[in-house]
Amino acid sequence: MKSPRVRPEGLEPIETASVDELRALQLQRLKKSLRHAYDNMAPYRTKCEAQGVHPDDLGSLADLAKFPFTTKQDFRDNYPFGMFAVPTEQLSRIHASSGTTGKPVVVGYTAKDIDTWANLVARTLRAAGVHRGDKVHVAYGYGLFTGGLGSHYGAERLGCTVIPMSGGQTEKQVQMICDFDPDIIMVTPSYLLNIADAMERQRIDTSRLRLRAAVVGAEPWTESMRLEINGRMNLRALDTYGLSEIIGPGVAQECIETEDGPTLWEDHFYPEVIDPETGEVLPEGSEGELVLTCLTKEALPTIRYRTRDLTRLLPGTARTMRRLGKVMARSDDMLIVRGVNMFPSQIEEQLLAVHQLAPHFQLELMRDGSLDQVKVFVEPRVVGDKPIAAGAELARRIKAHVGVSVHVEVLGCGEVPRSEGKAVRVIDHRTRN
Ligand code: DLL
Repeated sequence: MKSPRVRPEGLEPIETASVDELRALQLQRLKKSLRHAYDNMAPYRTKCEAQGVHPDDLGSLADLAKFPFTTKQDFRDNYPFGMFAVPTEQLSRIHASSGTTGKPVVVGYTAKDIDTWANLVARTLRAAGVHRGDKVHVAYGYGLFTGGLGSHYGAERLGCTVIPMSGGQTEKQVQMICDFDPDIIMVTPSYLLNIADAMERQRIDTSRLRLRAAVVGAEPWTESMRLEINGRMNLRALDTYGLSEIIGPGVAQECIETEDGPTLWEDHFYPEVIDPETGEVLPEGSEGELVLTCLTKEALPTIRYRTRDLTRLLPGTARTMRRLGKVMARSDDMLIVRGVNMFPSQIEEQLLAVHQLAPHFQLELMRDGSLDQVKVFVEPRVVGDKPIAAGAELARRIKAHVGVSVHVEVLGCGEVPRSEGKAVRVIDHRTRN
């Protein structure tokens, strides 16, 4: 590996403050943010009134549990600008996340929010061992998606040279990486694999590239996928987590010195983990749905946002702030197949254990009469190979570890649809009731 495990320089004082100092800052900011949301975000005030709570009822961080949640549906119901806590003239920028169904979720930023965001992404990059003077290739999509521009502003803020490549044009990405020789790449894991394939086709020796770290996220990815990426790209892939409704990228970042899950920037985003069924706050360390509250946002001070991401809160290691367990699944990505719950990441895990198969896959779900059928499309690692036995081995592993019988279809090399951003893992043809 090219980068040593050194603690990045220039940490902000709050990153190493005591837990007591951090909690005091959180409470002070939470009171202000909750009041701001109540006074200026009409849909949230309506919810508070319906629940009979008022910002004056918040005396401690634990009191937050009395307040209503914000959901994706709230954004959809108030499309496009009804969630903003400032008049639209005060917005510097609007982003939107497409989602798979329904209207996009629209988010907005004041000039101060853009500044806060740039600082948070700069902190994120510093935690990944990036420093002033590094060249950063941004392959997250630019445009309405928060990934491209959010990463861009943060990298500039840190004093890096940014290469604003965006997603897509894979052959050109490869050429730019070879010619500009960046130190860092910011990209989704599925698209980074796509780039790795293109490099292999061109017989590029990745050990000769300067790239030393990849800041990888925006979709779930397994530890096996990390090993695959690290080995093939000859770098260190670090997990980065974020979401539009909260800010975009820059919510949590895995620190290079510990590589043990993303540290949540708790001075800006207050976390809770709830039981997704009952909405009850769970004891620290329990697995459940992550709920995040913005502590410092002006345009969109989202309170108690139900992320639908399943994870747990872990004690801080490289920083005082707590870490997130790896986000392997969203509650709404869960597939119920013949009564068995399964997540696409479980298929990824099994696939990566079968070495004759490439790490690309897509699931297709159909209903035959009353019976669910699952097809797993995969492809061989080696062009011209037809590893039928490996396909059978994958089906056997999925049955044994996930508990679902599937039909594995081994396509030709390059035939599983590729992503240029977030991978589309599931095509569900079943009619939903
Ligand atoms: O994906 C923001 C982002 C951009 C994060 C670039 C990281 C890097 P959305 O499009 O709103 O925003 O999607 C947010 O993506 O709720 C998770 O379900 C998923 N997600 C994001 N990061 C991770 C990660 C951006 N590291 C949704 N691991 C979130 C697993 C992730 N899932």
